[in-house]
Amino acid sequence: MANNEELFKKIISHAKEYGFVFQSSEIYDGLSAVYDYGQNGVELKNNIKDYWWKAMVRYHENIVGIDSAIFMHPTIWKASGHVDAFNDPMIDNKDSKKRYRADVLVEEFVAKTEDKIAKEIEKAAKRFGEAFDETQYRATNPRVLEYQAKIDSAKNRLYKGLENNDLADVKKLIEDLEIVCPISGSRNWTEVRQFNLMFSTQMGSVSDDSNTIYLRPETAQGIFVNFLNVMKTGRMKIPFGIAQIGKAFRNEIVARQFIFRMREFEQMEMQFFVKPGTELDWFESWKQERRNWHLSLGIPAEYYRFHDHEKLAHYANAASDIEFNFPIGFKELEGIHSRTDFDLGAHQKYSGKKITYFDPELNESYVPYVVETSIGLDRTFLAMMSYAYTEEKLDDGSERVVMKLPPVLAPVKAAVLPLVAKDGLPEKARQIMDVLKFEFNCQYDEKDSIGKRYRRQDAIGTPYCITVDHQTLDDGTVTIRERDTMQQERVDTGRLEEIIRTRLKPVNV
Ligand code: GAP
Repeated sequence: MANNEELFKKIISHAKEYGFVFQSSEIYDGLSAVYDYGQNGVELKNNIKDYWWKAMVRYHENIVGIDSAIFMHPTIWKASGHVDAFNDPMIDNKDSKKRYRADVLVEEFVAKTEDKIAKEIEKAAKRFGEAFDETQYRATNPRVLEYQAKIDSAKNRLYKGLENNDLADVKKLIEDLEIVCPISGSRNWTEVRQFNLMFSTQMGSVSDDSNTIYLRPETAQGIFVNFLNVMKTGRMKIPFGIAQIGKAFRNEIVARQFIFRMREFEQMEMQFFVKPGTELDWFESWKQERRNWHLSLGIPAEYYRFHDHEKLAHYANAASDIEFNFPIGFKELEGIHSRTDFDLGAHQKYSGKKITYFDPELNESYVPYVVETSIGLDRTFLAMMSYAYTEEKLDDGSERVVMKLPPVLAPVKAAVLPLVAKDGLPEKARQIMDVLKFEFNCQYDEKDSIGKRYRRQDAIGTPYCITVDHQTLDDGTVTIRERDTMQQERVDTGRLEEIIRTRLKPVNV
C-alpha cells in the first residue's frame, strides 16, 4: 500500500464528504496546513483522546494528567532550546518560488535510492527463486553496492552539515545529488537558511521584544515546569508520570500532506520521571507498552514498525519512533525519547529554583531523568482513516465504501433504523434510541431505503445498525447488523446495551 497517492486523495475527499475533516476557512479559500474537524471527525478525535487517556492515566496508578496553558513564560523556550535550535533548514527554488526543507529533499533522494535497491532485490529474488540469499546479494551485487554507497554518503554529509551548521555544504550536497524542484524541474536553488518554527505574538498592550511570547511548539514543557507542583500536591513517588493532551503550533515549511503535517495540531504526551541510571530500561519498557497500545486497536502488526534514531538530539540518550504505514509510506506517528535530565536541569538553571526529588531509599536528592512518549493526535486520526478506508465489491455486484474503524473509536456506535417510516416503527425505534443514547453515540435515520441507510453508516464506520421491523412490535426483537461482515442476527431489544458494550471492548494483546 506504500506511496499510494491515489488512495490518499480518496481518503481526503471521503474525510470531507462525510464530515470528518474540512479545510480551515474554506469559504475564504482556506488557510494552508490548518484544518477543522467536522461532526464525525470531532467524535473520532475525542474517542482517540479518551482511549489514550484511559490507557495512560486511568490504568497507571503512578501517572496523573494535567492541562497547562498554551502561553508560557518566554524564558521556558530559551531553557528548552527552542529559541536557539528549533529550526528547520529551508531552501527555495528560484523558478517555482516554492520553499522546501533541505533535509527532506535529501531524505527523499535517499528514499528513492532505497526503492531502487528494493526493485533490484525483487528482480533477483524472482530470478534465483528459493536459492536467493538477500544478505549475500546486498553485500556483493555491484549495482546495489553503488546505490548503498550513495545513500550512506548523502546521509553522512547531511548529518554533518546540519550538526556543524555548515549550510553551504548542505546546499552543495543538494546540487551534487542533482536534486530538482518537483514543480519547476530546475536546479536553481537559493542558499540554505535556518528557519525557526515557533509562532510568536505579543502579550499586553505594549509591543516590544520583551513582550514576545510563543505559541507552544510542544506540550511537554508545560509538564516539566509543573513537575514540582504535581510531585508535591500529588505526593508522587518516583517512578511516576505526568500526561497531557493539547494543542501545539509549528510554522512548518513543508506542510503539504493533509493532516499529517499541520501548523496547528494536537499532541498526547507523557513524561515519565525515573531514577538516573534506570532510564534505558524504562525506555525499552515504554517502547513495548506503546506498541501494544497501538496493536490493542486491532490493527495488524505489519502496519507498525520502530525506527530507532541514529542521530540523537543533544539532550537524548535514546530515541525511537513508532512509524505507521500511511498511504504516503511508513512515517512517524509517535516518538519515544529518553531525554535524560536535560529539561528539568535547564529549567532549574534558568528559573533559579531547585527542581529535585528526594529519594527516601537512597536518602539523597537528584534531578530525575525523563522518558517521554509523544504521539500526534491528528496523525493517529489519519492513521485510523487510512487503515479504515475500504472499497468493497459485494456479491450482488454493487460496491460500497466502508470505514473499518476500530469499533471503540467509531464516531457513531449504533444507528437505529425503522424499516419503514410508518406502522408505529419510528416510535419503537425512538424508544430504543432513548435507551442507548445515554451510553453510546447513536444516530436515528428513517430516510431512504434500508440499503441506502446501511451504506451511509458504512461510510462513517458505524459498527452496528439496529433495524426495527414489524416483528419487533410482536416479539420485541430487532436485527443487529455488523458493519464488516454485514451479517445480521436477531436479538432481544433488552440485550442491545450489553451486546454493544461487550463488542466495543478493545482486543487484548
Ligand atoms: N515533545 C516531543 C515532541 O514534540 P516531536 O517528534 O516533534 O516530539 C511528537 O512530535 C509527535 O507530534 C510526532 O510523532 C507527530 O505525531 C506529532 N507532530 C509533530 N509535528 C506535527 C505536525 N506539524 N503536524 C501534526 N503532527 C505533528
